[in-house]
Amino acid sequence: MTKRLFIGLELPEKTRAALREIDPHIKGLRWLPVEQLHLTMSFIGDVDAAREERLRETLAGVRVPPFFLPIAGVGAFGGERPSVVWAGVGQGHPHLFALHQHIQDAVLHAGLEPDLKPFHPHITLGRARGVSRAALKPFLRRHAETEFDLWKVTGFTLFSSRLTADGSIHTVEMRWDFRCSGGL
Ligand code: 2AM
Repeated sequence: MTKRLFIGLELPEKTRAALREIDPHIKGLRWLPVEQLHLTMSFIGDVDAAREERLRETLAGVRVPPFFLPIAGVGAFGGERPSVVWAGVGQGHPHLFALHQHIQDAVLHAGLEPDLKPFHPHITLGRARGVSRAALKPFLRRHAETEFDLWKVTGFTLFSSRLTADGSIHTVEMRWDFRCSGGL
């Protein structure tokens, strides 16, 4: 049996609640359930049990000092008909990019192929279908500079994702905390 795996950062409860509140309730824009909000660090895809075990071992070696990340501003990917509305994390944050690199190395060392597309860190808030950028403009403008949180990142999470007709369901497989040794 395989699992569809990805590695991400889990948002604090209060930040998720704040991000739920800004749903502009636009037709065609599906706001994600708060428990799903995360920052994807590495999308891996289908992995069998033996490889997953190896991945857990290599990820256990990833350790960076805890760091603060601003959650600020919103944006939309996808031209005039955006597909994703997201919250940002500032620009070029060196600690986040270092963590990303360590995680990608761990994935490679486990013999897996991470998604090697350039890293554009974001927190997906909603998925759009048939919504024009013009319709999103007031929302994008209103929150262009909103600071939602200063987030202390203290670890990362291995998730599995199951695709269903109602969207994907994410399950926490394992958490690692930089402040402890081993997984949680
Ligand atoms: P997102 O971060 O833009 O929302 C689980 O599917 C998570 O992995 C989602 O958060 C998703 O996008 C991200 N992801 C990154 N690359 C992906 C890919 N090639 N296929 C599916 N999900 C991907």
